[in-house]
Amino acid sequence: MKVTIDGIEIDVPKGTTILQAARMIGADVAPPAMCYYTNLKTSGGYCRTCIVKVTQGSAANPTPMPKPVASCRTEVMDGMVVENFTNPEIVEARKGIVEFLLINHPLDCPVCDQAGECKLQDLGYENGLAESRYEFERREYEMIDIGEKIKLHMNRCILCYRCVKVAEQITDGRVHGVINRGDAAEISTYIEQAIDNEFSGNVIDVCPVGALTDKTFRFKQRVWFTKPMNAHRNCTSCSGKVRLWFKGDDVLRVTARKDEWDEAEEFICNGCRYDHKSKYDWVIEGPAPIHRQSVISQNKYANLDEKKLQELKNQKALGFMKIDKKP
Ligand code: SF4
Ligand code: FES
Repeated sequence: MKVTIDGIEIDVPKGTTILQAARMIGADVAPPAMCYYTNLKTSGGYCRTCIVKVTQGSAANPTPMPKPVASCRTEVMDGMVVENFTNPEIVEARKGIVEFLLINHPLDCPVCDQAGECKLQDLGYENGLAESRYEFERREYEMIDIGEKIKLHMNRCILCYRCVKVAEQITDGRVHGVINRGDAAEISTYIEQAIDNEFSGNVIDVCPVGALTDKTFRFKQRVWFTKPMNAHRNCTSCSGKVRLWFKGDDVLRVTARKDEWDEAEEFICNGCRYDHKSKYDWVIEGPAPIHRQSVISQNKYANLDEKKLQELKNQKALGFMKIDKKP
């Protein structure tokens, strides 16, 4: 099936989604995705950051789709033409989505362990406004411990459902993680049922923001001061292929290896994640590749600076930026 995304044509197998096809072309056309996760079935369709415009439905029926569509949930048709970054309407709409995602999200990046690895931080930087226009009270929750090793900071949650999918697909039986609906929706303590499972720590890796963090790593180090190394060990529960995050000779945390889309290549067990924090437990393979969205990658923001500055000036000129009157 042929599909054209932002002017680039690619041949993909039947059943491929627009997002997957865009990823096959590369990062320049691939939409951001906050809730879709390749290794989690039925993920996607919640956050809308991956919207695109289908300007031609297919070769057989060239009618454009009337509204932007979620690319992670829309399969390509032969001859489909899609616009993502080349469509100003989509770029503008995505800014609105980011603004919505940030309505309740606190701006606590300076004290958040996810800073530097946070998809929302990147998204906000690339598409966000400099000021919030939201004037109502934000949702606030007490932090809760999900077992001994995981902290849930619900204020930061964007309800992407990834952790729920992990709980559902890795634990035995059906486990729901979100209770209530609308602005009352929250990750519930039901998810605690997942903590006995040997793979529960993966909720930390899939969380795109700092809502679920590793208590054994919290406040230990900013991620950009650590050195990620790929390593493996013989493990009977998982593949044993992990990423070790070093500070000097100390292993500060163990995570799954992430691919260029920041998705875990393979889920790892809690034994590898929490119980093997000595470098002698591992066969070190070498430095982990640093992908485009990591702050560890030098000059990540260099090219954006000019563009961002101009955008802020434009917002100001249009009277779009507003000073928050609240203390
Ligand atoms: S806690 Fe994290 S992974 Fe779970 S729904 Fe919220 S943002 Fe998504
Ligand atoms: S990634 Fe497609 S809706 Fe969230």
